[in-house]
Amino acid sequence: MQNLLETVIEELEAVVKDTGNAFWNIPPATAALLQWLIKVHKPSRVLEIGTSNGYSALRMAQVLSHSGGVLYTVESHAERFATAEKNFARAGVEGLVHQVKGHAPEILSSLEGVFDMVFLDATKMEYQSYVDFLYPKLSIGAIVVADNCVSHGDDLYMQKFLQFMKETPLFSSVLLSFDNGVLLAHKS
Ligand SMILES: C[S@@+](CC[C@H](N)C(=O)[O-])C[C@H]1O[C@@H](n2cnc3c(N)ncnc32)[C@H](O)[C@@H]1O
Repeated sequence: MQNLLETVIEELEAVVKDTGNAFWNIPPATAALLQWLIKVHKPSRVLEIGTSNGYSALRMAQVLSHSGGVLYTVESHAERFATAEKNFARAGVEGLVHQVKGHAPEILSSLEGVFDMVFLDATKMEYQSYVDFLYPKLSIGAIVVADNCVSHGDDLYMQKFLQFMKETPLFSSVLLSFDNGVLLAHKS
């Protein structure tokens, strides 16, 4: 599986260069951070909101294939959902990556069980609603990772979200100012 997975990842990284990142994939260093978090935290169940063509999911799958965890990934756009489906099939990650089609947060109620790690990378102005909805579905000590917190830092909705995450006793969080700006939060 690993060779297929790596081949597809390399192809998607070439697509970023060819298209000017038409699928809005996370940069490789952010992917490496997600992988490191999975290695250290060893989540059994990871949730991603915002699959696009599946690049970040495949980068997480690279590590989950060793740690024994699984990934659920949510996408509302039919074409990108189908593109990711093909990429997951080519990479051989069936059983490891589970696609969920629909619009978050509404679709999240169809997901059973709790999550130990969540990666937010969909509509930035919806981050607060994702966290509000997901909070009861997060295990104690769960990690929430949110991308684009600096690139969208001038927007009022992002400022409000960051302020909430800084002040709430529900999470302890830190904002990392690299790539597009990544918020890391830990459910207290
Ligand atoms: C930035 S891209 C995700 C990139 C992907 N995480 C990666 O790095 O490879 C955001 C994706 O989220 C999807 N999206 C936006 N809002 C959504 C929502 N409310 N529910 C589900 N998907 C959503 C968009 O269609 C888009 O494909």
